Amino acid sequence: MSLPIRSWLFVPGDSERKLAKGRDSGADALILDLEDSVAPARKPAAREMVPDYLRAHAERRPQLWVRINPIDEGGLADAAAVVRAAPDGLVVPKVNGPDDLLRVSHWLDALEARDGLPPGRIRLLAVATETAAAVLRLPEYARTPVPRLAALTWGQEDLPAAIGATGNLDASGGFALTYRYARSACLLAAVAAGAQPVDTLEQDFRDDAALRLACTAARREGFTGKIAIHPAQVAAINEGFRPTAEEVAFARRVVDAFAANPGIGTVGMEGRMLDMPHLRQAQRVLAADAAFGGHGMPSA
Ligand code: COA
Ligand code: MG
Repeated sequence: MSLPIRSWLFVPGDSERKLAKGRDSGADALILDLEDSVAPARKPAAREMVPDYLRAHAERRPQLWVRINPIDEGGLADAAAVVRAAPDGLVVPKVNGPDDLLRVSHWLDALEARDGLPPGRIRLLAVATETAAAVLRLPEYARTPVPRLAALTWGQEDLPAAIGATGNLDASGGFALTYRYARSACLLAAVAAGAQPVDTLEQDFRDDAALRLACTAARREGFTGKIAIHPAQVAAINEGFRPTAEEVAFARRVVDAFAANPGIGTVGMEGRMLDMPHLRQAQRVLAADAAFGGHGMPSA
């Protein structure tokens, strides 16, 4: 039972200070960026600094992922440079459907063999909504298995640029339908593909209250994590995507109800029917709670 990565903190791959700061941010994963947060002139430096950082943090928590450049804009050279330093995964931007990920996956098959890494070890997070074609192809994830695929996320900035839109909001100030559609389709595609749905970032990193509301809303819909761009966002995301105290208490009652009826597949509790899926869900909640620091009192 692998736990979701709640907070994914982007760190520009050419910034010594931010790389140092990211380590202690409390994020479940850092995304060491070689793409859009690095100026073109700094990309060669970043391509050396990121593998150095990976090697210097071989024994580690948080997980360390690397965002490569798009497939046709240096992505292969980035992958070749970082795989030898064994990142946990690659973040692939501007992905146009699962075919693109299968292509990256084939690169990784070769690079893992070159560097003596276990086959399939390096996983993928796809930024899956950055072009018009990408959004239209989201349903393909439901029928095209990509074994390395760990997570899908959507973006709010690149798609309007790709469309030639002047903004991504509607008259009420919320996301326009195109972006809400991309977000929902991304959520469904991730779940259908057995991958983790990851919500997009909040630009205003000083607005903690808005971030907390966004986390609550995203989690209610089924997202299991969120992108961060600043260390100040990590705590709210980690709290927002762990089980609540009420959920933990309920899960404990479910587990206790089955424990009190050994060998029985269906039990009644508080006027409702519980069977194996409820037990598995309750066990998942308790495992996540324990891994994320523990709300719950020990079982009586
Ligand atoms: N990762 C690690 N450390 C970060 C960080 C990040 N994403 N963002 C800020 N910090 C550090 C700063 O270096 C600073 O520490 P220092 O004083 O020791 O240098 C501290 O946190 C406070 O930073 P602050 O002054 O509030 O922000 P800033 O103006 O320096 O940076 C951004 C603002 C948006 C430029 C910065 O947060 C950033 O680079 N975010 C990531 C952007 C990115 O990767 N985008 C790509 C994905 S869309
Ligand atoms: Mg981008």
